[in-house]
Amino acid sequence: MMIDLKRQIKNNFQDVVSDYVKHAKIQKIAANHLFNYLGNVKLPDGKIIDLGCGDMMHSLALADIFKRQVHAVDLIACNNEQENIIYHQHDFDNFKFDKQSCALVFSNMSIQWSFCLEKLFLNIASGLKRDGLFIFSLPISGTFDELHVSHRNQFYTIENVSEYLFKAGFRKMQYHQKKYILNFNNQLQALHSIKKTGAHTILKRHDESKKGLSSIGNIFITDKAQLSYVIATFCVAGIGWA
Ligand SMILES: C[S@@+](CC[C@H](N)C(=O)[O-])C[C@H]1O[C@@H](n2cnc3c(N)ncnc32)[C@H](O)[C@@H]1O
Repeated sequence: MMIDLKRQIKNNFQDVVSDYVKHAKIQKIAANHLFNYLGNVKLPDGKIIDLGCGDMMHSLALADIFKRQVHAVDLIACNNEQENIIYHQHDFDNFKFDKQSCALVFSNMSIQWSFCLEKLFLNIASGLKRDGLFIFSLPISGTFDELHVSHRNQFYTIENVSEYLFKAGFRKMQYHQKKYILNFNNQLQALHSIKKTGAHTILKRHDESKKGLSSIGNIFITDKAQLSYVIATFCVAGIGWA
């Protein structure tokens, strides 16, 4: 069951990867916030990792900014070898981070797909250098509030995420959250926009009994053709900064 779900996540992203950039408006905005955190940062020596790298657009930007190789990790297959990118087709939930080897762990709009965020944060905490940085974004609670709960994922809150970071040993962090509303010509187009970014796998239904309902009227709880995204960005210092 869990393996099927992981396969579904992978297939849904794999299917759209070549056209992803055309539709990933919110993902690009989120990435810009992350790059702002990196503004004048001087990283220690060590690996740069891009978790859930997708089409590697941001891995390439990181390689360019920091003039070093980037380890790009994603479930999907990559047939586009790039200089300065070491691609790992791997599940980040089982990724082996060598102890205190990473100068930067970067992840844009991906770790919400983890099956256990608490465990992932623990692994990242052990893989990050004490003076390294963990920078990430994810959609949080309030996202897709226009959709019936049985037709969207349960999103974390800022409090959940901060608590898991704290439990993993991180003490210094800054975060930011902002709501964006995308408008469409009609509700079908709104739903297609989710599919075109591969983000339509439902990890955990709020109500299994509603599984069969699929007419638009049952999916949206409003007449509006819009989708809200509440995006949180985090800049977290390695545990040696405390
Ligand atoms: C919304 S896309 C974001 C891609 C890229 N980071 C960006 O900003 O455009 C989410 C990515 O996370 C990847 N992903 C989801 N679950 C994953 C997992 N368990 N391990 C590795 N990658 C995963 C998906 O395959 C997809 O490429």
